[in-house]
Amino acid sequence: MTKTAIITGASSGIGMELAKILAADKINLILVARSENKLIELKKELDQYKISTSILALDLSKPDAAQMVFDYCAKENLKVDILINNAGFGDYGMFISSDWKKQEEMIRLNIQTLTHLTHLFLPYMVKNKYGRILNLASLASFLPGPLMSVYYATKAYVLSFSEALSTELEGSGVTVTALCPGPTESGFQNAAAMNESKILQGRKLPTSKDVAIYGYKALMDGKVVAIHGFLNSLMVSAIRFTPRSIARKFVRTLQDKS
Ligand SMILES: NC(=O)c1ccc[n+]([C@@H]2O[C@H](COP(=O)([O-])OP(=O)(O)OC[C@H]3O[C@@H](n4cnc5c(N)ncnc54)[C@H](OP(=O)(O)O)[C@@H]3O)[C@@H](O)[C@H]2O)c1
Repeated sequence: MTKTAIITGASSGIGMELAKILAADKINLILVARSENKLIELKKELDQYKISTSILALDLSKPDAAQMVFDYCAKENLKVDILINNAGFGDYGMFISSDWKKQEEMIRLNIQTLTHLTHLFLPYMVKNKYGRILNLASLASFLPGPLMSVYYATKAYVLSFSEALSTELEGSGVTVTALCPGPTESGFQNAAAMNESKILQGRKLPTSKDVAIYGYKALMDGKVVAIHGFLNSLMVSAIRFTPRSIARKFVRTLQDKS
């Protein structure tokens, strides 16, 4: 039977590339983001695959956003088999001088909406004995992140939540995957105002498409923690043997302005 997936943050970057991959695999889509025009353009592009694509222009950092998504799907009788919690953003700079509203929206989007959407859509998947959930974590999930402290902390939450939930769901037919990319070419760097960070200098970043291809395979295979890239996997292994005091100083140096 044809499956239906919901993808948050489908208007750009990794989310948009995931939408193209799922569409090519004949999976019906519900695409959510704030930029309605970009979603309309994407829907037109995906029409070639003869799937059903619904779009929902919504600010997912609002407290009731997840409920609105769920109510929309119920009203349209859309049964969700695959949930991709991809929408997210970061913010670069010292916490003390950060804009509180931006930190609050980040915590709501990266943590609250992701968790609430999972809570709302999970019961149907369990009842149906099939479901796939992909949560966008990050390499940042494994480390404290000076100069992006709130962002790194939100991604640590995503990894911890995803791993724990995947264990609770063992044997249910529903899997949870935490996708952990390193720095990736997308709209993320501009949104986070981090183009001066040393972490981005002199590096050719993987494309959003590279990460989406890897993430989709990991999702469908039911992999729990999916770290994109050999060097990133190596770094995560090295972190396990590195004292936290050294790890946080290392990130501080990497994140400083070049
Ligand atoms: N790029 C990286 O280096 C990197 C590395 C590790 C993890 N990640 C994670 O990957 C995920 C996707 O990011 P990306 O790299 O593809 O960045 P991106 O190109 O900036 O895409 C972010 C997506 O999230 C949506 N979004 C942002 N705020 C939103 C809001 N308030 N309500 C609804 N949608 C919102 C954006 O759509 P609208 O602006 O249209 O709302 C856009 O579609 C994020 O969770 C990010 O933390 C990225």
